[in-house]
Amino acid sequence: MKITLNAPLDMHLHLRDGDMLKLAAPLSTDFAGAVIMPNLVPPVTTPSAMQGYASRIAAAMDGAAFSPYMTLFFTPMGEKELISARETPGFFGFKLYPAGITTNSEGGISDMAQADSTLKLMEEMGIPLLVHGESHGFVMDREQEFLAVYRHLATRYPRLKLSMEHITTAAALQLLDEFPNICATVTLQHLIITLDDVAGGALRPHLFCKPIAKRPEDRDALLQAALSGHPRLMFGSDSAPHPRCRKEACGCAAGVFTAPIALPKLAEIFAANGALENLQAFVSDNACRWYNLTPVQKTVTLHDEPMTVPACYRSYGEQVVPMYAGETIGWSITD
Ligand code: DOR
Ligand code: ZN
Repeated sequence: MKITLNAPLDMHLHLRDGDMLKLAAPLSTDFAGAVIMPNLVPPVTTPSAMQGYASRIAAAMDGAAFSPYMTLFFTPMGEKELISARETPGFFGFKLYPAGITTNSEGGISDMAQADSTLKLMEEMGIPLLVHGESHGFVMDREQEFLAVYRHLATRYPRLKLSMEHITTAAALQLLDEFPNICATVTLQHLIITLDDVAGGALRPHLFCKPIAKRPEDRDALLQAALSGHPRLMFGSDSAPHPRCRKEACGCAAGVFTAPIALPKLAEIFAANGALENLQAFVSDNACRWYNLTPVQKTVTLHDEPMTVPACYRSYGEQVVPMYAGETIGWSITD
């Protein structure tokens, strides 16, 4: 079995900076482009910092045809600043983090009222808002508790291009169905694992991420929605490399490194469920339609030839462990 995908997109990707960027960037070049997260240290909050980051990404991609859709870390802004952001080449939208909710998000928003005038302007200007939707409540309830905020945003700013990033619950899917003016991304790991895989036996730090994987019924609902080609559900890997020593540690950093295996594993899952014909929508067409994107021309062909996943990626002095490290997965990319 084989499938050729046209311009696959990763709608949520952490590429980091410095040596980690040099390691990670080449491992996403089977994608035609990706939405790049701004949670560097310090976060990317200005158009000039964003442009600098975009050029470092381009250098790390080493000539590969790849569109980095750049995001700015959301901070309250006036009209002039928004115009300058929108006019910056490569700018895609803003990523809003609740303050302190995840890696490098201390400068995020603690009260949505602080964001009101900026969001009104973004709505008028057609600038997308991508949201890390978690409350500070009990870890398993954080996403569900945040749904009231999404509901508020979708109602108060009905024309705002709003994305619920990396959804992990059946309840978030219900909200997606209720509000035709919002879209959502979902990761690879949340289509596959539950909290049991992370912490039900020996702790598996390389599967620990935020939001944490939830219940089997949540995973199953997300998988069915993706397989069905839900028109407002898009693939966003949230691939988030951390140095091995920060994962295999007391105080494990959150993030699953899936970039190198994302497309083969998605093809394997869609094929196993008889839904290969909907993979193109999930990994590209839904995003292109929703955001009006025209990515670079690129095709990637996958087939049901197994591949062994490296135990660890090492370069530039960094070591990162991918999902399925050392295991064999059922599909691979043709040469
Ligand atoms: O698991 C995660 N890792 N979730 C996030 O929201 C951030 C990410 C990271 O940057 O490491
Ligand atoms: Zn993320």
